[in-house]
Amino acid sequence: MDFDALYRSQCAGCHSRDGRLAAARPLNDPTYLAFVDPTALRRVISEGVPGTSMPAFSQKRGGLLTDAQIDVLVDRLTEATPGVRIALKLPPYSAPLGDATRGAMVYQTFCSKCHGAEGRGGPNGQSIVDPAYLSLVSDQALRTAVVAGRIDLGMPDWRGYVPGRVMSPQEVSDVVAWLASQRPRQPRPSTP
Ligand code: HEC
Ligand code: HEC
Repeated sequence: MDFDALYRSQCAGCHSRDGRLAAARPLNDPTYLAFVDPTALRRVISEGVPGTSMPAFSQKRGGLLTDAQIDVLVDRLTEATPGVRIALKLPPYSAPLGDATRGAMVYQTFCSKCHGAEGRGGPNGQSIVDPAYLSLVSDQALRTAVVAGRIDLGMPDWRGYVPGRVMSPQEVSDVVAWLASQRPRQPRPSTP
């Protein structure tokens, strides 16, 4: 029932112990913790993210953790957020995909200077349209990356791509649709 012990034994292997340079996003980033919806956080921990390597932890889903242990994780990860969410004017955590055609223009405005003219990589960022990459991540993970950035990898957040110009919620949804539209169509493997 101790947060640090649970996090270290169950989560740190992928999300990193100290929030740096892990395979999956750091979970100690205050912007991310303000952004994530507590209900979604509980669902993701309990049920995992199907089609990705985020496992289900609930015993009901074959995982190792009791509901009470999941509560410990959720309570701690969401303890500081409500005021911060409002103060930061964060876009909603989840939203339907926007318009991919508009998203291509949003991409040029906010992203191309780092990830290259077509998303295949540029001076300050790697390819984000690589078919293998897009097959391994959910649409929500793409949305989360656009809004919360990757503090550990030098990826800014939705306020910081163009100086003085914050992305609107619609622009976020549109650029995510543009990325998702490039995901290969074949079914994703169940065990990545
Ligand atoms: C085997 C690696 C692995 C382990 C272990 C793991 N995760 Fe994850 N986690 C991932 C991956 C990969 C994703 C991204 C999935 C996607 O594409 O949406 C993810 C996504 C998440 C998200 C959602 C991020 C978002 O987009 O908002 C949360 C929250 C999360 N994990 C929490 C945890 C917690 C808490 C633990 C420990 C109980 C844990 N994870 C253990 C790999 C892992
Ligand atoms: C200032 C440079 C910069 C800008 C602008 C930028 N990124 Fe990134 N982005 C990065 C870096 C650095 C990474 C880390 C990986 C790498 O080196 O490519 C990254 C990673 C990503 C990832 C992978 C995240 C993960 O968790 O695997 C996605 C998706 C992404 N960016 C999308 C975007 C989108 C969409 C935009 C525009 C809305 C954008 N980026 C704007 C620098 C940038």
